[in-house]
Amino acid sequence: SGYWVVVPAAGVGKRMGADRPKQYLPLLGRPLLSLTLSNILTWPGLSGIVVALSADDDHFSHLAEAKHPQVHRVTGGAERADSVLAALDFLGTREPQDTPVLVHDAARPCVALEDISALLDEAVSPVALLAQPASDTVKQSAIEQGCPVVEKTLDRNHIWLAQTPQRAPLGLLHSCLRRALEQHAAITDEASALELFGHAPQLVPGQRDNIKVTHPSDIVLAETILRLRYAPTED
Ligand code: CTP
Ligand code: MG
Repeated sequence: SGYWVVVPAAGVGKRMGADRPKQYLPLLGRPLLSLTLSNILTWPGLSGIVVALSADDDHFSHLAEAKHPQVHRVTGGAERADSVLAALDFLGTREPQDTPVLVHDAARPCVALEDISALLDEAVSPVALLAQPASDTVKQSAIEQGCPVVEKTLDRNHIWLAQTPQRAPLGLLHSCLRRALEQHAAITDEASALELFGHAPQLVPGQRDNIKVTHPSDIVLAETILRLRYAPTED
């Protein structure tokens, strides 16, 4: 009856350019991955978490959550999709094929419980993702004389920015991701692997503050979001 959460956390954080992978940078004095895992551990109905880590990770074992009985670790791979696949390989031998799986970026510590409820309880489809309706006008580009120029303006009413968690039944997600990787398809999120094989994931509107900590300025932004969330009446 429960669901599992897969947390890819095997990246190097190139765009952050810090002295360690970004998932171990401190936010409000706690490692980012620790915040993300402790957030997930509050989600109702959780069966467990599988965290995918880099083969040379020497930080994870120091986190308080590493010893939590619901937290399991696997070794990730070169790309995010390889890391997710490693976690699904782990679950595939232990859990029924119809077990719901939510894949959630280690780098998104700010996702709110309301968004998780929307994805778990309000989504009509078992294949769904949190996404943010575009607020900026989006231009599709072409290159002319070496410069990007506007080819066309996309209809903003049909543009969504994908977030995580993204959910699907274990067996379906496992087979779509495995087949997509075999075909060397460009897989930037789980939804794109499902789309490749004719599944149309439902878009569940998520909040803007579910940011992915990517660039140095995102640290301050995430700290502000978390501070407001946990101490809203501070005076
Ligand atoms: N990830 C992973 N395995 C990889 C690459 C990424 O598990 N081989 C994880 C990251 O740790 C992160 C999530 O996937 O939690 C989203 O990826 P991204 O934000 O791109 O993180 P990085 O790849 O670490 O950052 P960058 O692209 O700037 O190097
Ligand atoms: Mg990356």
